[in-house]
Amino acid sequence: MEQNQQTNFRFRFSISGIIATMNWFAVFGIIIAVGYYFIARKSMPSVVTNGKLNTSYDYIVVGAGSAGSVIASRLSEDPDVSVLLLEAGGDYTESELYHIPLKFFSLQRTESDWEYYTVPQKESHLGMVENRSYWPRGKLLGGSSIFNSMQYTRGSRHDYDEWAELGCDGWSYNDVLPYFLKSEDMLIDSLKDSKYHNTGGYLGISTGGVSPISDVYLQAGKEMGYDVVDYNGEVQEGWSPMQYTIRNGVRSSTSLEFLGRINGRKNLHISVRSMVTKINIENKTAKGVYVIKDGRKIYIEAKKEVIVSGGAVNSPQLLMLSGVGPKQHLESLGIKVEVDLPVGDNLQDHLLLHTFSSISVDVGITEEKIQSVMNELKYRLFGTGIYSISGVDGNGFFCTYETDEKNCAPDIQFMMYSLSMSDNFLCFKDDVAKEYLNKPGSLGFSTVMSLLDPKSVGTIRLQSADPFDYPLIDPQYLTDRRDVDAYIRGFRLWEKFISTPAMKAIGANFEKMKLSFCLQHKFQSDAYWDCVVRHLAYTVYHPAGTCKMGRSDDKTAVVDPQLRVKGIKNLRVADASIMPNVISGNTNAPVIMIAEKVSDLIRGKNTVNHLRRENV
Ligand SMILES: Cc1cc2nc3c(=O)[nH]c(=O)nc-3n(C[C@H](O)[C@H](O)[C@H](O)COP(=O)(O)OP(=O)(O)OC[C@H]3O[C@@H](n4cnc5c(N)ncnc54)[C@H](O)[C@@H]3O)c2cc1C
Ligand SMILES: *[C@@H]1O[C@H](CO)[C@@H](O)[C@H](O)[C@H]1NC(C)=O
Ligand SMILES: *[C@@H]1O[C@H](CO)[C@@H](O)[C@H](O)[C@H]1NC(C)=O
Ligand SMILES: *[C@@H]1O[C@H](CO)[C@@H](O)[C@H](O)[C@H]1NC(C)=O
Repeated sequence: MEQNQQTNFRFRFSISGIIATMNWFAVFGIIIAVGYYFIARKSMPSVVTNGKLNTSYDYIVVGAGSAGSVIASRLSEDPDVSVLLLEAGGDYTESELYHIPLKFFSLQRTESDWEYYTVPQKESHLGMVENRSYWPRGKLLGGSSIFNSMQYTRGSRHDYDEWAELGCDGWSYNDVLPYFLKSEDMLIDSLKDSKYHNTGGYLGISTGGVSPISDVYLQAGKEMGYDVVDYNGEVQEGWSPMQYTIRNGVRSSTSLEFLGRINGRKNLHISVRSMVTKINIENKTAKGVYVIKDGRKIYIEAKKEVIVSGGAVNSPQLLMLSGVGPKQHLESLGIKVEVDLPVGDNLQDHLLLHTFSSISVDVGITEEKIQSVMNELKYRLFGTGIYSISGVDGNGFFCTYETDEKNCAPDIQFMMYSLSMSDNFLCFKDDVAKEYLNKPGSLGFSTVMSLLDPKSVGTIRLQSADPFDYPLIDPQYLTDRRDVDAYIRGFRLWEKFISTPAMKAIGANFEKMKLSFCLQHKFQSDAYWDCVVRHLAYTVYHPAGTCKMGRSDDKTAVVDPQLRVKGIKNLRVADASIMPNVISGNTNAPVIMIAEKVSDLIRGKNTVNHLRRENV
């Protein structure tokens, strides 16, 4: 009897259960659909020009990346000029993944990745397949700004003061700060009133703090004796929550923010899948560009200027293809030399190194949490939670050399990646990957150590005169011994960090970094870390400097402080390649600053007087 009743009850329960579940599914479905609508669709209008292009424009901007999207947006604010923005890759509406921060790794090795590889390195990358460094670069509307891990850092004030000292008038910290402020829409309440920040610009800046481990990092930082700082404020050295180019959980790419929001501007044409193969230079003047679009070659005239913003690999490549570059190199490939300049020299990049640690407490981001429907829902509905950041949930900048200066120039950065990395995104050799990467599902995090002031310098050269042949990238990583020494000092700091009570309390340890391929040296000795760095360090994706800015009489410079190519009229370069020295931090925000500034230079305007700040 009792048995029967129970069965009966269960039966009824399961019917109502099915109905209830169906309702739940329906509710879930609607919520997700609404979420998609608001987060994915609504804010993402296509800005692509579908009709035919005109035969001429006042300004032609080549490349719609961090720099190009900003420049096209600013130049077209003047209604009486016409602007064409050409992008080799596709539209940002083609995949939702472009806009979801946590998914940034999944963009690599897709059709929107240039997927470059360096030539085999001699002193580094010994743990990578063929000793090469894999260089992903964004190939779509937004360039690497829609491809990167969204950390918002400006570098050190000393970086820009050094540029000015090298003869780049107008590029000191005091000169460039207003251009950082111009773009900025600071969304972190505690920083809105800081004189180092601004609200109301195009670029949304928010913070992480999505998993409990982010507080542990800061606690450990305090135990190491560092302050918690705003690294984009007065003092860069110290620990901080991450600042991100993310608005309400959606990536603030330059394409979405600077182009999406001005959608429909009549005097701006934007053309995707349009690869510029050559700048036409006549009589030492840039006259227009050759473009491959829809399999056809077209010529478009620039009545005022061509602005090259292809990034640190493609800008020097395009200049060389157009006859602007080292004379002997171009002649050896049969390219007619328009002007002899050191294009492709001065290649500088930051290296990074994942120092893994397992933990015993579930305070970070795990595969399980990524797969959880609740976490996805939280993201869809509120734009928060683990999907709303790239996984880097804390940051430290350090001066590892002897100095008494409070306002020192950091040489090592820690980016705290709160996941236990198990996928071989980085092309480690199989045996290295097996030992070094983590087991899927394990608990852990990584202190990503970046070398901020590299002394090793490399080159970019053409492989042939064919614009579709990839250039030869040779960063010469770690060929300057000082870079290895800086890394060893970074390891000493990491050891101190892992040994703090806060990190010990969650079970952090050194075990993951005991690697057989270096254990011929004593574990944790200088020689051991030297070996680890040479095997495992790889690019942190910040190549810069290949069309160096400098005084007009500086023989090592390609562009002058107005970013005009020396010896050629109506031609500028504006992107990461103009940096005389790579700045001490992640490079996206500095490139956006460069774009804001060059836009004023081109327009002959000063749009930032109201943003100049006293005593900064
Ligand atoms: C995986 C990754 C992670 C990163 N993480 C961060 C981070 O967290 N924070 C940070 O600050 N920085 C980060 N960076 C670096 C930062 O994104 C770059 O320094 C910055 O985006 C470079 O801007 P750019 O304008 O110089 O070049 P890009 O943004 O790369 O733009 C160049 C554009 O030009 C187009 N193009 C090139 N050649 C041609 C041609 N011939 N014709 C037409 N179009 C062309 C390209 O397709 C591309 O869209 C990261 C970069 C990568 C790749
Ligand atoms: C990579 O480096 C190793 C160790 O120095 C060397 O033996 C090997 O020949 C290198 N491979 C290539 C492709 O350069
Ligand atoms: C393109 O050409 C048409 C016809 O001359 C002109 O009306 C329009 O303003 C041009 N658009 C741009 C963006 O130059
Ligand atoms: C070349 O440029 C010079 C200087 O600007 C000018 O005087 C000359 O007329 C130009 N020649 C041609 C063929 O355009």
